[in-house]
Amino acid sequence: MADDQGYSFSSWTSFIEESQIRALLKYKVHYYFAGGKPGIMPTDIFAQIMQDLGAKYKEDPKLALEDFNYGPTGGQPWFRKTLAKRLRDVRSIPIDRETGWENVSITTGSQQALYALLDTLIDPGDVIITPSPAYLGFLVPAVKLGARVISVPTDLDGMIPEYVEKAIHASKVKFGKIPDLVYVVPDSDNPKGTTLPQNRRQALFDMCESHNILLIEDSAYAEIQFKKNPKPIKVLDKENHRVAYLGTTSKEAAVLRVGYSVLPTHVRDQVLKDKGHLDLCTSSLVQRILDEYYRNHIDEAMRKAMPLYKARYEAMAKAMDASFPEGERTHPTGGFFIWWKSAKEDFDSSAFMEEVAIPNEVLYVPGGAFYPIVGHKLTENGTDLEPSKPEHNTMRLGFSYRSPEIISEGVELLGNLLSEKQ
Ligand SMILES: Cc1ncc(COP(=O)(O)O)c(C=O)c1O
Repeated sequence: MADDQGYSFSSWTSFIEESQIRALLKYKVHYYFAGGKPGIMPTDIFAQIMQDLGAKYKEDPKLALEDFNYGPTGGQPWFRKTLAKRLRDVRSIPIDRETGWENVSITTGSQQALYALLDTLIDPGDVIITPSPAYLGFLVPAVKLGARVISVPTDLDGMIPEYVEKAIHASKVKFGKIPDLVYVVPDSDNPKGTTLPQNRRQALFDMCESHNILLIEDSAYAEIQFKKNPKPIKVLDKENHRVAYLGTTSKEAAVLRVGYSVLPTHVRDQVLKDKGHLDLCTSSLVQRILDEYYRNHIDEAMRKAMPLYKARYEAMAKAMDASFPEGERTHPTGGFFIWWKSAKEDFDSSAFMEEVAIPNEVLYVPGGAFYPIVGHKLTENGTDLEPSKPEHNTMRLGFSYRSPEIISEGVELLGNLLSEKQ
């Protein structure tokens, strides 16, 4: 496609738009319930770490030269060792005490790991199974790279394994192939906020084992939990061959653009090859700052943050229950989001946001953003596939960023507006 300067852009640029969530960042509203921005952050801890580090670098210019330099593509071994210990001791992931750290890779955000996984595993026409709705940061690159996305139904407990089995079967019949990937966010999903119970985790793992499919377990919200969750699916992957486990520092530390992952070895090698071409390496200075945080501060920071996030969730849930018109919301036990679906099928949350919510200083993410722009879903009887359709009568409300008082006020205002004008 040529633009008016005569430059010829690659074909994806004409059908992939700017991320809808990025686009919403331009609105500066009082009642901000849109992006997944952490609102409780141990900035004092990070300020102290940086001050101490500055003094250390003055004393030790050799260390400074190392940390301000290019580092290994897969991340600094000292940071990978720190994360390996946390993944083993706190999240029970089977990582060998001596050598397991070698399986931990560092990326520039977990977004980069998602992109590189897709980039290295997907050829046009390959098939991916995702929940419906799903994290748009996964869906958009998947479609961009030419994947055929099959979205499967979810309920208040997240992705429903029976439909995953049906989707695998339908993919065989319709596309003549087994899907390459299953993607899931088991702990406080984005966008629905649901958490997969243990039996569903086991069922998904078993299904991927029996059909030889790589399972991407995106654990972005694993540490943002108000109650104890079932263990990660990765715990079942004793041989480290079935599950690509992704974590991020963005929600549990600070948005310093660092993700970490435990990938099957042969998958990791391809992903890091791709990363080498994408950004050469992730900043070592940032890894140094985070290393100190993960070694000495994260437990205290999370202990302080959880009741505060929980209070924000409760303020939002209470205001929704009191003021929203007929519909259904999810009941998260962690993470950043509540999902709401209006009982009115023809409600368009995107038009409502432009016309009513934004002029009243309220911002959320219209639910349509979390469905693939082109994709497939199971037919009613579950045996065939049909084009998927976004459900426009839905919205994602983020409770992470504003105080409980502002949330109560803004959500009540939104509820009243919906009741009046929906
Ligand atoms: C489910 C999920 N995965 C991945 C990411 C990307 O996180 P990062 O900041 O590590 O790139 C996000 C960010 O919102 C997310 O919600």
